[in-house]
Amino acid sequence: MRYLDFLRGLHSHLQPSTYLEIGIRNGGSLALSRCRSVGIDPAYNLTAEIDGDLALFRTISDEYFSRPEPLAPFGNRPIDLAFIDGLHLFEFALRDFIYVERYAATGGVAIFDDVFPRTVDEAARDRHTVSWTGDVFKVLQVLERYRPDLACIRVGTQPTGLFVVAGLDPTSTVLHDHYDEIIEQYITADPQDVPAEILDRAGVQPPQRVLDSPVWEVIRAAREIGASNEQLRPDLAESLRTSLGLSPTGAAGAAGTA
Ligand SMILES: C[S@@+](CC[C@H](N)C(=O)[O-])C[C@H]1O[C@@H](n2cnc3c(N)ncnc32)[C@H](O)[C@@H]1O
Repeated sequence: MRYLDFLRGLHSHLQPSTYLEIGIRNGGSLALSRCRSVGIDPAYNLTAEIDGDLALFRTISDEYFSRPEPLAPFGNRPIDLAFIDGLHLFEFALRDFIYVERYAATGGVAIFDDVFPRTVDEAARDRHTVSWTGDVFKVLQVLERYRPDLACIRVGTQPTGLFVVAGLDPTSTVLHDHYDEIIEQYITADPQDVPAEILDRAGVQPPQRVLDSPVWEVIRAAREIGASNEQLRPDLAESLRTSLGLSPTGAAGAAGTA
């Protein structure tokens, strides 16, 4: 499945009321949104037809989130769904996640693009290939290590995979508090040491199986009844794993080749 088809499916299952996209380029992914949307990109050039309720910001994400009221274009409602696809350098993707989580709604979901480079060249920090993932793949390692409370799923979309993170917690300061230590540890000079598990797409779930999970309906229902994160989050990661046929310990009982 192509990543845009997965995104379309997730919009349909989650039915977010607010959608934020970092890195919009031609609007291909932004065009899939059917709700109030915010797009952030210093150099967008829309060619896709977009007829939604939209606010565009020609700026970088660091500047956007340094504004006093980043949720103002949503009428101060928090973010239900975010797509992180801006600058493909690890520290930018990590900061983008920290920003999104800070302003996330109950049951908020973030999706990273380009987490499975196909070659070491494609994963270089200093871009020298046409198709470029950079070292965004490191966010998988960091979130899985520092934030076991999140419901994280590796999704085997084409061309370079997605990483879906559900159950965002706006009260968490773990990544912010450990930011310097993480950066020092994970930013390395090219060529990148891309682990075999990343190049081999270890543990990826078939996209359709992820879309078919009942968890999206649970999140949607929680949002509709105004549930709190305290009510929703504790069981979310486990429900997602169980619905995908994964063992509680993380072994991929039903992982497929996607
Ligand atoms: C891969 S493209 C986005 C593609 C789009 N999401 C899609 O799937 O159709 C990445 C975009 O990120 C933008 N970008 C680069 N640095 C950024 C930053 N710091 N903040 C936000 N966007 C950035 C680039 O201008 C580029 O248009």
